[in-house]
Amino acid sequence: MRTVSIFWRKAALVSVGAGVAAWLVLASAAGRMDGPATAQMQQAGEELFVHQWVANDSKAHGDGLGPVFNANSCAACHFQGGLGGGGDVAHNVVAYEVHPTIRDKKMHKGLVHAFAVNKEYAESHDLLSKAFPIIPGGDRVVGGCTVRFDDFNPVQLETTNSIALFGDGLIDRLSETAIRLNHARRVAKQLGREIGGDFEAAGAGRARTLPDGRLGRFGWKAQFATVKEFVAAACANELGLGNPLMEQAKPLSKDCECNEADLTKQEFRQLVAFVEAIPRPIEELPTNPTERAAAKHGKKLFTSVGCADCHTPDIGDVAGLYSDLMLHSLTSKLGDGYTHEIIVEVPLPGSHPKPDEWRTPPLWGVADSAPYFHDGSIGSLYDAILRHEGDALPVTKAFKSLPPTDQQAVVAFLRTLKAPPVAKNSADLIAANR
Ligand code: HEC
Ligand code: HEC
Repeated sequence: MRTVSIFWRKAALVSVGAGVAAWLVLASAAGRMDGPATAQMQQAGEELFVHQWVANDSKAHGDGLGPVFNANSCAACHFQGGLGGGGDVAHNVVAYEVHPTIRDKKMHKGLVHAFAVNKEYAESHDLLSKAFPIIPGGDRVVGGCTVRFDDFNPVQLETTNSIALFGDGLIDRLSETAIRLNHARRVAKQLGREIGGDFEAAGAGRARTLPDGRLGRFGWKAQFATVKEFVAAACANELGLGNPLMEQAKPLSKDCECNEADLTKQEFRQLVAFVEAIPRPIEELPTNPTERAAAKHGKKLFTSVGCADCHTPDIGDVAGLYSDLMLHSLTSKLGDGYTHEIIVEVPLPGSHPKPDEWRTPPLWGVADSAPYFHDGSIGSLYDAILRHEGDALPVTKAFKSLPPTDQQAVVAFLRTLKAPPVAKNSADLIAANR
């Protein structure tokens, strides 16, 4: 068991090294195409961010909001702790992935939209199941052997809670080499510990390398490499706004002639410029001396129990991020000791995240971004810590073995990680957009 584990770590180290090398080649070929954003562009972008879109909106160059959508403004889902923050569970989003099968080898992805401008475009889980039905199992001959397949539901659903956009511009500009090297060091350190007989370290997780070779760093599944691409997808999928990078989402139910771009190239650049300029969160110690001492002590414990292994405080030139931007599984592996792999007809590429793999969320601003976890199912910081199993199990055990005052000190430290104060000034705009 242990030798196997070491073998895999070695293999992981080699693949991390290869990833870094491939990136160095790509990075030298890449360059930033857009000129610098001005304050005026950011201001215009903020107006687009808070604008409440309607169907056939006079501000749009196409059909405006929809045909299918989840809310009528960016601010409706990004408001907690200030404009650009996270969202409440009422604004959670349901995403689906349809896995490839022998009949349809393409992977389909999208959102099950909560709203439509017209009843005939309304979407539902039922509709999705009808469009992509369960494939009945049975005995099939594969490579000369008879293999028993279970019934296979190609549709995977995920409910996700809005992520705060504070400091996204810094994450966007963070060097990919720095992120990959941080991970390579983690894998090497873990291998060293395992060779020394210590198997009680948190799993190092893995990078999400996108099909074009870039590192995914935004979103719960690290599914996008840049703010610009995420914003394009958010316009198209959440609001139904076609833009220069992406067509607006089409209804599941019915074809529609609806390809018009709602945002011009310039408007789209303004919106991206605004999101990239949303200030980074801050660390603010309490003024009360006892609470202050507890938070400082908690910060030390955060590192000594191992939280900082995944919630890496600094990467490259970004200090206070508290994330390795890697995918991890926090699901318990105890069970009955066996992993039940579902036999699928067409396997996904190895780099595709498994259903239980999620990107380590940056903890900056975490005091103002409840509820927690990808689905927003956890209400308090303490409960969020206890929910860590899988890769994080050794760390959770170490946390649980701390005396209660020390556990509370870790939580007190997390409470110092706050939304930027500037963002709070937009309270009126936010209230109007709730
Ligand atoms: C209906 C709610 C909703 C609306 C409206 C919405 N978002 Fe989001 N946003 C989300 C959710 C949920 C996520 C996390 C999705 C995921 O990763 O699966 C997210 C994530 C993001 C991210 C990635 C943040 C990060 O650090 O990883 C960006 C950028 C973003 N949204 C920008 C926007 C912009 C710009 C708009 C308006 C065009 C917008 N969003 C509208 C719900 C929403
Ligand atoms: C093995 C890596 C790993 C370790 C170790 C780890 N975390 Fe996490 N943490 C994650 C991942 C991944 C998530 C998101 C999981 C999800 O959404 O399903 C997360 C989520 C969180 C959240 C919720 C954040 C949000 O925005 O929803 C908090 C708070 C948190 N961790 C704190 C801690 C603390 C404190 C420790 C140490 C006691 C710790 N973590 C140890 C990987 C880790």
